[in-house]
Order: sequence, then C-alpha cells, then structure tokens
Amino acid sequence: MSETKKVFIKTYGCQMNVYDSERMADTLAPQGWREAETAEDADLVILNTCHIREKASEKVYSELGRMRVLKAEKAERGEKLLVGVAGCVAQAEGREIARRAPVVDMVFGPQSYHHLPSLIERTGNGARVVETEFPIEDKFDHLAPPSREKTIARGLTAFLTVQEGCDKFCTFCVVPYTRGAESSRPVGRILAEARRLAEAGVREVTLLGQNVNGFHGEGPDGAAWGLGRLCRALAEIPGLDRIRYTTSHPRDMSDDLLAAHRDLPQLMPWLHLPVQSGSDRILAAMNRRHTRDDYLRLIDRIRAARPDIAMSGDFIVGFPGETEEDFRATLSLVEEVGYASAFSFKYSARPGTPAAAEAEQIDEAEKIERLARLQAAIDSETRAFNLSRVGMTMDVLIEKPGRRAGQMAGRSPWLQAVHLEGAADLLGRIVPVRVDAVGPNSLAATLVDAAGSVVAPPLVQPASVGAAT
Ligand code: 5AD
Ligand code: SF4
Repeated sequence: MSETKKVFIKTYGCQMNVYDSERMADTLAPQGWREAETAEDADLVILNTCHIREKASEKVYSELGRMRVLKAEKAERGEKLLVGVAGCVAQAEGREIARRAPVVDMVFGPQSYHHLPSLIERTGNGARVVETEFPIEDKFDHLAPPSREKTIARGLTAFLTVQEGCDKFCTFCVVPYTRGAESSRPVGRILAEARRLAEAGVREVTLLGQNVNGFHGEGPDGAAWGLGRLCRALAEIPGLDRIRYTTSHPRDMSDDLLAAHRDLPQLMPWLHLPVQSGSDRILAAMNRRHTRDDYLRLIDRIRAARPDIAMSGDFIVGFPGETEEDFRATLSLVEEVGYASAFSFKYSARPGTPAAAEAEQIDEAEKIERLARLQAAIDSETRAFNLSRVGMTMDVLIEKPGRRAGQMAGRSPWLQAVHLEGAADLLGRIVPVRVDAVGPNSLAATLVDAAGSVVAPPLVQPASVGAAT
C-alpha cells in the first residue's frame, strides 16, 4: 500500500448512511487515512449500501463489477486496492456478497464500523473478512467524533444519529433485521457532539434515527429522556439555531414532542411523518398499528401545536393485496393532508419480510401506473405549497454560493432551496428574505430587513467586478 493511504467511501440510501460514512472516515483519519475524491485515486473503497428496496440493493453488485475492473487495472500497475462493503446489504447478505463477488475483501455491517481499523489489518495477509454480528458494546462509544476541521469542511448543516434500529416490524420493511433492535444514545453524548458541531459553526442539526421519535436515551439524571426533552436541551446550545429530526412513526408522536414543537422556535416547522397508505385495510396488513383516522387526528394536533408546520411523508403503492379502492384511499388521504413534499415508492418484496411471502403480489404495470398517479397528486401539492410562500417573508439559512455570480443559496424553514442576490459574507447567516417566485427547483427571493423592506442598494457586484477592486 502507498505511503499516504486514501479511502473513498461511496454512500447509498438514507441520511443515516451519510452520517455513518462520515464517522467511518473520522475513525480512519487517526490511522493516517485521507479521503480520496474518486475510487481510482483510492487504496480502499468502501461501498456503504442500502437494502430498503430491491433497486437500491442491486446497485451494489453493479458497482462491484466496476471495482473488479479497477482492482485488476491497479494490480497491473503494481498497486493494491482493498474493497469493503458496509451498510445494510452487508448486514443482510454477509457471506453471500463475498461468495458472489470475489473482488470484496471486507464485508461489515452497521454495528461494526468502529472495528474498521482492525478489519483492515486483518486483510493484510490477503484474508477476506466478514463481520455482521451485533456486538454487545456500543459502537458510538468507539466511533471517532468529527474533527473541527472536517466539520467546517462539511458545512453549516450536520446530521447527528441519536437513535438506531426499529422494533416496529412493519411487514414490508427490512430495517428491523438490518439495523437491529431500537437503541438510543445517551443524552450526554448527543449534547457533547452537538456542542462540538455548533462550536465548529454548524447552525442546523438533523437528528437521525430509523424511528427517531421513539428516542428514549438515558439523561444525565438517569431518567429516560424523550425526543421532546432532548430538543429542549439542544435548543439551549448557542449557535444551534435550527433543529430537525427524521424519520418518525405516527405512534411515537408524544405530547411532550408536540409541546416542543409549540415552544421551540429552533424546532423547524417541517415534519416527515410517513403513513405509507391511506387504507385501513392496508395499514393493518402493513402492521402500522394505527388507522387513517388516527393519523389525520394526529396531524390536527400537530397543527394545533405549531400552525405553520408543513407535512412530509412516505408512501408505498402496490403493497400485496392493494386494490384500486385501497389506492384511492391513499390518494384521498394525500389530498386531505396537503403535503409540502412526500416520497412515494413501488412496493418491493424484501427477502425475509412477512409481506414478501404474501400470495397476492401486485403486477409491476399496476404499480407503475399507481405510482405515476400518486406522484402527480403529490407534485401538485408541492407546487401549491411552494406557491403559497410567494410574497411571504421568511428566514433563510445561507449555506453556499448560488449557481450564478453574485447569488447565494440556502434553505427555508420548510427545507425549500432558496436563491437570492447577496454577498459571500452572508454565508452561515440566517437572514430574512421575501419570496418573489417559484422556480423549477428553488424559490427566488430578495433580502429584506427585519421589518420586511427590501435591502437596498444591491449588496453585491458581479464577481468579476468584485475581483478587480
Ligand atoms: N418497498 C417499498 N418501499 C419501502 N419502504 C420501506 N420498505 C419498502 C419496501 N419494501 C419505504 C417506506 C419507508 C421509506 C424509507 O422506504 O415508505 O418509509
Ligand atoms: Fe421500517 Fe419504519 Fe416500519 Fe421501522 S417503523 S419497520 S423502519 S417502516
């Protein structure tokens, strides 16, 4: 292996994988590993995989095909390439991956990331390593926290895993098998990590968990804290002005969490609350353990606590046994809620889950057709929501330069991308803007003062002029 060792981590799937990939890089950094920009430039490639739907998990095998070619090319040049498969496909398929893809040197599940340095060492004599147990010790105790430099490089928003695993066992879902039983990190550790992030300039943190509102971490007082209480403590950290969390289950929206939405301006008015279906029959078959009406009443209570909250969700079409009538119930629920955004997926039978064994699987053509109808309904709600912001004054966290010179880009409280004319020194600030128009991918806005008046004269010169002065 060359002197400066470089790792390239390719991340698939959800935000938790993004967080995990960063922690893997942080854990390798003290061993002299730097991050490579491309696989070609790396001594070690890790694919951090996703198993949630078939398409996601098939991607890993096509990528491994590319790795086989790359490894052979490198070998011709006398260079070595280690290939690791991490994440949920690794957890679910373990040795099967090593068998199907001889290019793979290491297969390790999400609970083993803190062992990464020793796993690499074990491949030293050409051995292939598979580690997919759920160890007793808590990986978070051993995973390196992000360094200040890395946090700064990664920007003004950060993910923070607070909870992992799921005990809900929805009948379509692999998560309880790949990520294991629900467990929450202790509050003290989470607050320490959040403080470090804030000190490095992070303004917005998204708390992550497969069932994040089921959070019940041990507090400094020895009691189990819920997510609402955790958010209250996080809101006291100076500089941490925006808090979000994802993904939630409707059954775990506690009164205290609703109260936190009512009381904390830092808790952003945007809630991802998947329902999956609008049909009671399908909800029961999915083992969601709530009805359509429970969900709608819950949203009423959430909106009573925080009237400006925007809803987001996940939907599955073509679950086994879903009739046209069931599907229409989903469409009518979407209409009733009025989502600001939502994700919809074709049901994908996952090996080992109860729904995969159901006799009445839905035709692919039917799934495609329902998905298109659902997405059209969601798109029109997203458009209506975006249009409802025009003329409104709102706070935007300025995150990066915009596409054009003299522009800056950021996020609204409702996670909408926003661009505006502004100078580079706006970076990292939360500024009031007035929304002027809705573009295809973002809102166009103008900087205003606290009273809502347009800030004039224009703050910036075009970059070329600015550079000359
Ligand atoms: N098929 C299709 N979509 C699924 N999801 C989870 N499992 C499946 C599956 N087997 C969707 C759910 C979940 C989101 C993360 O992925 O909507 O909320
Ligand atoms: Fe999967 Fe979410 Fe259901 Fe848990 S609550 S089983 S993560 S869909």
